[in-house]
Amino acid sequence: MAQRVLLIVSGGIAAYKALELVRLLRGRDIAVRAVMTEAAGQFVTPLSLGVLTEDHVYGALFDLKDEREIGHIQLSRDADLIVVAPASADILAKMAAGIADDLATTLLLATDKPVLAVPAMNVRMWHHKATQRNLAQLREDGIHVMEPAVGAMACNEWGKGRLPEPVGILAEIERLLAEGPGAAEPHPLLTDTTRTINAPDLSEHNLFGRHVLVTAGPTHEPIDPVRYIANRSSGRQGFAIAAAAARVGARVTLVAGPVTLPTPPGVTRVDVETAREMAAAVEQALPADVAIMVAAVADWRATDEAAQKLKKDGSGKPAPLALTENPDILATLGQHPQRPTLLIGFAAETETIIDHAQAKRARKGADWIVANDVSGNVMGGDSNAIHLVTADGTETWPDMPKTAVAMRLIERIADALAGR
Ligand code: C5P
Repeated sequence: MAQRVLLIVSGGIAAYKALELVRLLRGRDIAVRAVMTEAAGQFVTPLSLGVLTEDHVYGALFDLKDEREIGHIQLSRDADLIVVAPASADILAKMAAGIADDLATTLLLATDKPVLAVPAMNVRMWHHKATQRNLAQLREDGIHVMEPAVGAMACNEWGKGRLPEPVGILAEIERLLAEGPGAAEPHPLLTDTTRTINAPDLSEHNLFGRHVLVTAGPTHEPIDPVRYIANRSSGRQGFAIAAAAARVGARVTLVAGPVTLPTPPGVTRVDVETAREMAAAVEQALPADVAIMVAAVADWRATDEAAQKLKKDGSGKPAPLALTENPDILATLGQHPQRPTLLIGFAAETETIIDHAQAKRARKGADWIVANDVSGNVMGGDSNAIHLVTADGTETWPDMPKTAVAMRLIERIADALAGR
């Protein structure tokens, strides 16, 4: 059966590109049903969208004829994926706040399907703190958000905020559709929000007011002014853990290596570049009740950072690169006079995962090791399958979104602190 996309077109000059997107989707045999916000009607017509989708175009919430034919709940659940393109600053704000004051936003609140938002707006609107806060919230809620393109704006300004080219949006849609219904992050209404609804009094939570220290991302170790040693860590798992801890009322310090992720709401972030800077920032943040060391810290750094860019000397021999081992932050905390009550490390392995994780737990003096197989595309990907190695043994968790791993780990930590 053909896959189905529900395309929500919000207002903005980029709305015309939604027509090209529909054409590309139809060319790939993907069925498209379109919903327009009132503002979108200023930029494209229902007629042109209807011709291209070969379907009725939906608009007003209280259109009795539409309600008789297809209810808005059904409309939101008939599709395999909901795509908001272009997503204006206004609709992103409404999505982040859970406002449902027209058909488009009602569908977004009622759906149980994955949602992809493709923002497009003026550069200043994009960089505004309110928009960035809303985007962080949406990502935290499991909405997939594409980065806008950089370039000239319709309003004669230049910068980030342009709608990505429709072929790029098509590629992202096909990627999400290929992941299937289980793999894409489920809509927040079905996961984390329910938890919050069930446990509104956060002061009862065992992590409320506790200090949780998290490291995340890679480190960059300079070789010369333009080159560095790095790794593929995206920082997503660490950021999701910091966000989950903040959500249950913990005081969170997130020491982040060089990543482009937004700071989760309620988290104090310290940006660092090298392993030594990360070690110093962690030391500075002590004492902590819980430390979760998720960062993929570079094991080695260049012994001497060259002051000038290294040059080829014509001999065909590469410049020598001497390496020195970096401080092990996790192991240092394991021995520290202010050792956190619960010290958790991560272990990215490509073979004999559990054996290595058990050995690492003992060697580094950690209480728990969260081990994962990084031979696939875990680094940078959306989901993670982990083994939790503790003094009591090993638990294997099924593959799930990194946000779900984070929430489950935070609940386990809260239980551990309560002695359960
Ligand atoms: O030894 P390995 O790098 O596999 O250990 C991974 C764990 O140790 C992770 O929790 C990582 O954050 C931490 N680590 C660290 N400092 C290092 C190397 C690793 O804190 N220099």
